[in-house]
Amino acid sequence: MCWVFGYIWHPGSAAREVIAGLQRLEYRGYDSAGLCVIDHASNMQVIRAVGKVNNLKVKSDQHDFSTYHAGIGHTRWATHGGVTEANCHPHLSQSGRFVVIHNGIIENYSELKQELIEKWYTFNSETDTEVTVQLFEDIFDGDYLSTITKLVSRMHGAYGLVFLDRDNGNTMFGTKKWSPMVLGFGKTERYISSDYRSLIGLIDDYIILEDGDIFLLTPDNYQVLSEWLAADRIRQTVDESEKVAELGDFPNFMLKEVFEQPRVLEDVFRGRIDFDAYSLHSHTLAHIATLGIKRITVVASGTSYHSGLLGKYYLEELANIPVDVIVSTEFKYKKKFVSTDELYIFVSQSGETIDTLDSLKIVKEQWGHVFAIVNVPGSAIARAAGQWLFTRAGTEVGVASTKAFVSQVWCFLFLALYLWQKNGLDYRKYREIIDSIDKLPEAISDLLLQNEAIKQVAEKYAHSQNFFYLGRAHELVIAMEWSLKLKELAYIHSEAYSSGELKHGSIALIDAEFPSLMVNWGGILSPKNASSAEEIRARGGKVVWIIAKWDSNKHIYADTIEFNPLISELNPFLEVVILQLWAYHIANSLGRDVDKPRNLAKSVTVE
Ligand code: M6R
Repeated sequence: MCWVFGYIWHPGSAAREVIAGLQRLEYRGYDSAGLCVIDHASNMQVIRAVGKVNNLKVKSDQHDFSTYHAGIGHTRWATHGGVTEANCHPHLSQSGRFVVIHNGIIENYSELKQELIEKWYTFNSETDTEVTVQLFEDIFDGDYLSTITKLVSRMHGAYGLVFLDRDNGNTMFGTKKWSPMVLGFGKTERYISSDYRSLIGLIDDYIILEDGDIFLLTPDNYQVLSEWLAADRIRQTVDESEKVAELGDFPNFMLKEVFEQPRVLEDVFRGRIDFDAYSLHSHTLAHIATLGIKRITVVASGTSYHSGLLGKYYLEELANIPVDVIVSTEFKYKKKFVSTDELYIFVSQSGETIDTLDSLKIVKEQWGHVFAIVNVPGSAIARAAGQWLFTRAGTEVGVASTKAFVSQVWCFLFLALYLWQKNGLDYRKYREIIDSIDKLPEAISDLLLQNEAIKQVAEKYAHSQNFFYLGRAHELVIAMEWSLKLKELAYIHSEAYSSGELKHGSIALIDAEFPSLMVNWGGILSPKNASSAEEIRARGGKVVWIIAKWDSNKHIYADTIEFNPLISELNPFLEVVILQLWAYHIANSLGRDVDKPRNLAKSVTVE
């Protein structure tokens, strides 16, 4: 999505600070970028560039910014209007005095635009954002905060807005609703950002703005108002361990994050499982276990939705609790039956996904029990839920969610084991699962050693136009996640299917050019999968098998990727790593930007 960044203080630093800030935020939205800097003599420069932030930097390098002390910058993920320079933020008011950057969507922008056009305002872009700055100028009463209050009363939608006034270089002001925004305080510098982690290393403390807050920031003061009154927002100290990740020796973040997974699992276990005593520890889950939960609904999007589907498998099979899993966009508008014996779990890597956040708020308004599985402490979903498990995956920069998925799935398994203890535990099976969890980081490390072998098989299929990913039961979820990764990273059409369901229609698509991947490690559905594969082969289709190392039928398969299975419940953790590397190598061999695939953004903060 779009991201905003602002800086105020040292003459000569503004453009450099803004560009560096945008580069740290770029993974979150990257189809175009722009900046505006001002100085104390009311000079203003606006630069915009389509494409990556580096294009903006190259353009900016041709300018002299030595007097400019304040600036705002923006990375865009287009919603209203194509990816063009004219649509890049910042946008200026008619007179050129006010300038704005915006993250969100102004839903009633066309009415407001029409009203302003009738007053002879002219527009230079197709964006919804431009109306905010034009309207601000139209209603400006000499006081920034009072004018923003009036502006907010006219707008419907989601916004994080930051304004500069060319004629007063000492002040930035704005407001936010449903779009994240923080104020950051360095020794002397002041910052505004959509993501506080982009400020780590620059600031000592920060304020997370709440919905409806209106702020004003100067080099030596700040004000936050909520509903016309001064709002007492807590200044929080920076946690340096959360700093934006660095690439190290890896060629890109995706590969780095895939290889981090053994360590991530060790982090997510820490303090939560005692492998010697077979005991589980969590204050949050201890509280949840007292609620008398009879049903669970999981609400999430994308990869987080898939982790919810695996969560369903664990919670139903182990803890005997029925679970519904629904994508946030659908949950939000469907009829709800919130009851006191139901737990609603909201899953999100970023903790900012707007549909998941809105769904959570709706359930809370109806007094439902809510719980979040999130990766980013302090994120909107974590704050709104009030009780959570953190996935401890560390900053995930690659747009494709990899390590966060693995830690989300583990959190579900942990929850299921915890509730199972209170609900008919089979202690022998429980110990078997705990023992296998203990082995998991090493099993993933071993699998990562096969990176080159996986690459060789994957690249053989890189030029296929279509794929089926086939599986049964919880492996169907892995197939779904696999399929999403291939579409997202390689831009190749793929479908996840229950292997048993193919013959009900979709097998008609199979020919020599339409390969299928099938997980068949030897579980109880193995003979069923084998029959489905035979049906595909009989129609000239190729099947790549993900099989156990000891599979005695290797010679009959077109291609194989072999692994050492653990127990059935734990195998999805291994299979998902194979799929991540498979999608990665196909995308890489096709020359795709695996960290920043086209048309996407890391966090989806607009509806
Ligand atoms: O931050 P969230 O987990 O709420 O994000 C949800 C989806 O947008 C996200 O998982 C998306 O599907 C990933 N890019 C998939 O790799």
